[in-house]
Amino acid sequence: MTFVDPQHAFEASYPSKTARFRHDLTNDPLFEIDRILKLIASVPPKSIEYNSANISHDHDPAKMPSNGLSPEETVRNIADINSWLVVMNIEQDPEYNAMMQRCLADIAPHVLEKTGPMNLIQGYIFVSSPHATTPFHMDPEHNILIQIRGVKTMYTYTAQDYSMLPQEVHEAFHTTRLRNIGYKQEFEQYGTAHEMHPGDALFVPLKAPHRVQVGNEASVSLSITWRSRVSDDDAHLHKANAMLRKIGAHPPMPGIAPTRDAAKIFAHKVYSKVQPAAGG
Ligand SMILES: [Fe+2]
Repeated sequence: MTFVDPQHAFEASYPSKTARFRHDLTNDPLFEIDRILKLIASVPPKSIEYNSANISHDHDPAKMPSNGLSPEETVRNIADINSWLVVMNIEQDPEYNAMMQRCLADIAPHVLEKTGPMNLIQGYIFVSSPHATTPFHMDPEHNILIQIRGVKTMYTYTAQDYSMLPQEVHEAFHTTRLRNIGYKQEFEQYGTAHEMHPGDALFVPLKAPHRVQVGNEASVSLSITWRSRVSDDDAHLHKANAMLRKIGAHPPMPGIAPTRDAAKIFAHKVYSKVQPAAGG
């Protein structure tokens, strides 16, 4: 087992609430800097994103400033350069893929029971400077954040709370890949701070808005994400509602009219099969 007692965390929380548990990956050689550099050298450039992290938590995530360095220089000097780097799709490396599969095996029974098969499984390694900030955003996946080195505080906000982020924001997120979902100071009343130390893991629900603040030392962390029939249905529903809104309708909030939601999800699934660009 890589995770400690994940069933306890997942039974009570998955898929709608955050859940904390522990992991034993802290000393895994896959997270040594030299091994991460080897990974960076082996993946295509499109698998790497990096930028200056000298920004505030309400910065527009679509407009991240460059740090002027190469990915290798960024990782080697991460303690001193106020930057952030992610290696995406680490599952393309067989050793990282094997580690991810071990993690997922621990939680699969609990996930399968509630949201069906885990699809589009992806892994991300984040390397961040001391005090680096990741601005407020949301992601279209179920996510486990696994802290390996350093301390980061993950601020999460209630998932699918339409009083905080209106339906139109969700619809734009799914139809235009909107990254700047519009931080407001008043959201802090809905936020929870999770201080993550090496050995800590946090389940982050689908589209739970979040922002991240790294502590006094450089941080290395891993995210494992997956999609499910729940995330697919959520995307189909918001895309269907966006289409209805375009022709002047006012679709009710998801969950208020479950039968109509189901009909719209079904109709949009059919539509996206004949119009593949509509996607799930
Ligand atoms: Fe995120």
